Parts: sequence; C-alpha cells; structure tokens
Amino acid sequence: MPTFRPPPIAPSEITPPEVHAARRRFSAGMALGLLGAALPAVANQETRRRFDAVIPGRYPPLEDKPTSYKDVTTYGNFYEFGPDKDSPVRNAHRLRVRPWTVAVEGEVKTPRIFDIEDILRWAPLEERIYRFRCVEGWSAIIPWVGFPLAELIRRSEPTGNARFVEFWTLADPEQMPYVRVPFLDWPYIEALRIDEAMHPLALLAVGMYGEHMPKQNGAPLRVVVPWKYGFKGAKSIVKVRFVEQQPPTVWTKAAPDEYGFYSNVNPDVPHKRWSQSHERRLGEFFKRKTLPFNGYADQVASLYAGMDLRRNF
Ligand code: MTE
Repeated sequence: MPTFRPPPIAPSEITPPEVHAARRRFSAGMALGLLGAALPAVANQETRRRFDAVIPGRYPPLEDKPTSYKDVTTYGNFYEFGPDKDSPVRNAHRLRVRPWTVAVEGEVKTPRIFDIEDILRWAPLEERIYRFRCVEGWSAIIPWVGFPLAELIRRSEPTGNARFVEFWTLADPEQMPYVRVPFLDWPYIEALRIDEAMHPLALLAVGMYGEHMPKQNGAPLRVVVPWKYGFKGAKSIVKVRFVEQQPPTVWTKAAPDEYGFYSNVNPDVPHKRWSQSHERRLGEFFKRKTLPFNGYADQVASLYAGMDLRRNF
C-alpha cells in the first residue's frame, strides 16, 4: 500500500507492545474479575455478559485453525496510527472508545445517531471464523465477534434511492496522530453496494477471540467483508451514509488504477505492482494459493452475475 514518512509521535508516548499485550490478554474467567479494572469505561455488566454469551457462528464452517491472537493483534494496517505493521499496536492505545456514536445520514428516512451501547444490544453476538486476505499478500483466520451488517442497514431505514453505503471512520488528530499527514484523504471512507452490505456473510464486528475489539483492530466496531480484500473493512466507524451513486473511496481516490471499488479477492487479477495468486498466512512460512472470493465464491458469486470482474476489480 502507500509509502510515506514522518513519525510525529514522541517515543515517550508509545506504550511498549509487551505492556499492551499484558493489558489485553485475559481469559474469560479472569475477565469477570479484571475486565472492570482493565477497561473501566467499556465494561459495564451487561456488555460483559454479552461477550460471555457469544454463540458459535452459524456459517460457513472452516477447517483451518485460527491464526494466533498475537499475530492478528500486532501486525496490521490502521494508517491513522502510522505506516508500519506494528504502528497500530504501538499507538492505538490513544483511541478513546467510549463514549462512541454512529451517525446515519444521506438517503435515509430520518438521519439519526446510534449509541454503541444500544448497537451492542441489537442482536445476539456471534463468533464468525473467517478467512482474512490483505491486498498486500498476507492472510489470517480470524474468529470475529459480531452480528450481520444487515442489522445496521435495516435499522438505518435507507430510502428506495439508496444503492450504496459509505462507512466513515474516526479522524481525530488528537487521538490519531497520522491523520495530520495527508498521504490519504482522511477520513478513511470505504463503501459497499447495499446488496453486498446486506449479504449474511458481511459482519459488523465488535470483537475478536471472544473479547472486545482490540483498539488496533478497529474498536469499538468495524466492518468485515470476508470475500473482499481487507481494506474494504473500515475500522472504528463513526458514520454510515447512504448514497445513490457509486462513491469514491479512500483507496480509489489514492490510486484508482491499483484499487477498484469492488476489490473482491481475485487470484486472476494481479495488483498493478504484484501478483495476487498466492498469500502467506501470518505465522506460516510457505505461501498458499489464494481462492476466488477468498473461498466464499459459493456464497457470494451470484452478487456479481453478469459483471466483468476484471474490469470491475
Ligand atoms: N480502517 C481504517 N480506519 N484505517 C485503515 O488504515 N486499513 C485497512 C482496513 N481498515 C484501515 C482500515 C486495511 S489496508 C486492512 S488490510 C485492514 O483494515 C487490516 O485489518 P487488521 O489490522 O485488523 O488485520
């Protein structure tokens, strides 16, 4: 993805990863006693109970073993916190995840604002173990916690004119030092066609590995679209906006010839600068073949019937 420079964060402001890791790792049993101390504002009794009651994801089952929590939480992209793969884990402790609201705007019956505590009560939390494929060639198996994104779309009451939905993510320079660096057109906005967002595989994720979403992975809520490259999954969402025309997104604005609107995982369509035919799982040495639609073709290919997916990459 992009190449860019200056680190405006003083070393003294950076929490060492081991301190972070120690803060974050707690078992379900420990959570009862320690969660309140670890995440005072977040962990009210009710959300704690909801995370204890996560139900197994209904579909589709995966045989692959989940990638380690450590790999998934220490290697990633969250450019608001810096350019390197470990920038998110080093810097995202600055993110304040409460209070948190999600505004609903555009082609909707009534614009409104949802509070995260209400959103967490909308539907039973499910564990969904999905393949994750980054456009850069790494991948993972991640046990997300969340519920269908369709729930958010439905509750937003889009009008008949709405054909696309944009996901706007937080861009606060006080918490996210790199939004002062204009190498992307902040805020990070990604978008889906409404029928893609309504597909039962598309997830509004509020956690992973049975816990609240780690800040570096997009707390308190993010989108997960497992058949698309990872960058379609906007982190730390503060607004959804319904529109009639296919909107530009952060990546189509940055490099339209490298990142398409659809960005379905497609081993036959190389990125302009590298092949997409293979991927390397975090924690593994050998590469494996990338699957069309990241292995979810049976479920989602029909969404694109009649479309030329080389042109609509
Ligand atoms: N969301 C925001 N707000 N900012 C980002 O930089 N990066 C995207 C996506 N969502 C990004 C984002 C990219 S490029 C990827 S690959 C995934 O988040 C990475 O998710 P992970 O770090 O949880 O693996």
